[in-house]
Amino acid sequence: MIASVGFWIVGSGTVSTRTSWMPCQVSAFITWRYPVTGPAHTRIRRTSPSSRTRAGAVAPGTRSRALRQGRTTVPQHPARLSGRRILITGASSGVGLEAARRFGAEGARLALLARGEEALHASVAEHGLDALVLPVDLTDRTAVEAAVAEAAQALGGLDVVVSNAASAVFGHVLEVHADDFDRTVAVTFTGAVNVLRAALPHLRASQGTIVATGSLMARVPLPTWSSYSAAKHALRGFLNSVAIEEREQGTGVRVAIVHPGPIDTPLFAQASSATMLQPRVAPDAYAAGVVAQALVEVAVRPRPEVVLGGETRLLDAMFSLTRPAAEAVLLLVDRWYRSGTEAAARPGSLWVAPARPQASGGIPARDSLLAPLQLGRRLLPARATPLRFAAHLALAARRLPALRRTLMRPVPERPAPAEGLAAGGGRRPERAGRVTV
Ligand SMILES: NC(=O)c1ccc[n+]([C@@H]2O[C@H](COP(=O)([O-])OP(=O)(O)OC[C@H]3O[C@@H](n4cnc5c(N)ncnc54)[C@H](OP(=O)(O)O)[C@@H]3O)[C@@H](O)[C@H]2O)c1
Repeated sequence: MIASVGFWIVGSGTVSTRTSWMPCQVSAFITWRYPVTGPAHTRIRRTSPSSRTRAGAVAPGTRSRALRQGRTTVPQHPARLSGRRILITGASSGVGLEAARRFGAEGARLALLARGEEALHASVAEHGLDALVLPVDLTDRTAVEAAVAEAAQALGGLDVVVSNAASAVFGHVLEVHADDFDRTVAVTFTGAVNVLRAALPHLRASQGTIVATGSLMARVPLPTWSSYSAAKHALRGFLNSVAIEEREQGTGVRVAIVHPGPIDTPLFAQASSATMLQPRVAPDAYAAGVVAQALVEVAVRPRPEVVLGGETRLLDAMFSLTRPAAEAVLLLVDRWYRSGTEAAARPGSLWVAPARPQASGGIPARDSLLAPLQLGRRLLPARATPLRFAAHLALAARRLPALRRTLMRPVPERPAPAEGLAAGGGRRPERAGRVTV
């Protein structure tokens, strides 16, 4: 974050196009460090339905809802992944949905996995992607193996696997039923392992790349989401071990992990909740497009681990360098999350694919100021990003007086449920309603 701020106040010259706000020196550095590569054409492949699962195309010129709303736009650059065969998990929502669009815009041929078949088809049709839709629950190992085999056969192999799907349950460890805890690990960790184990032989054949959406919570703890944080830590350990195994065997398979901080996606709002309440919305998050673009960048140019964004790097550094201070911040984060008052969906997305998947979770979102220095100019932030960031901080500060009493003392835990959320477990919230603060 400090680097980002410094980066904003140095220099006075400007250059044209999207970098117009950017100090000349920084822009020149990014241009030198990350030259544009690949064939000089940009094309989103559009296909007509040719099989049961291959989705149809939109009429040329049809604008997506996201574009109409001006939410995020897929940057128009020369395609760098033309014809590359890419499998993406969790492609029906949030980061995965954005990633599918962006990999599609780079000319990739896609296989998209998630439970929500309708959502996958809708996204493919809306964005005119060349994609095979494979509805599957990642916890079903046999079904995952069949889906990966089908993807590899249909695409003629696999060059990149983007391991992105995840799910979570909200609540302190003794509030969460063991079934819900185990299911979080089964989706977020074991589900990813199921996909990667099935895909690895295909990646070895192509000397391909594993790209994974990690998390700051793969490096730092996250209270009230302990099963999710544990699964993400496990995934990081697994991926980094596989990277060394592949290197030792000389297979040519590379592993790249992107660790973002909070992202504006429906993940937490739609998560299953042992308290029956949704977590309070984070005051500031990265837009899903920032993370999706980062996944594209590490697929084009793999690097082992990227802690994405200034805020994420600050918290990561705090935890390793000044742990007591970081733990004090995390304690407040716990209470912030636990001060939510809106009723949660039952049983929540851990067990059931949301009826209407969305790209955004309604969290105040922005681009990252540091990301272009980490991953290149395709991550250049929108001009209004510093203002937006300041507005998010100001809004959080405005809420603090009303939340002060909540943040100053422990939020009481609920009694342990007799059964998991899928079996109808949990209790009705005592204070559900609209968020008033
Ligand atoms: N949101 C954040 O603040 C944040 C921060 C750091 C890292 N991340 C990471 O970002 C990645 C993407 O998450 P997101 O924030 O975009 O969340 P999201 O919008 O909830 O997307 C999660 C995706 O995973 C799929 N999924 C969930 N359970 C599944 C299952 N059992 N089998 C197959 N697919 C399943 C969902 O599709 P269906 O429901 O249709 O199955 C959905 O496409 C995750 O790895 C997450 O850990 C998120």
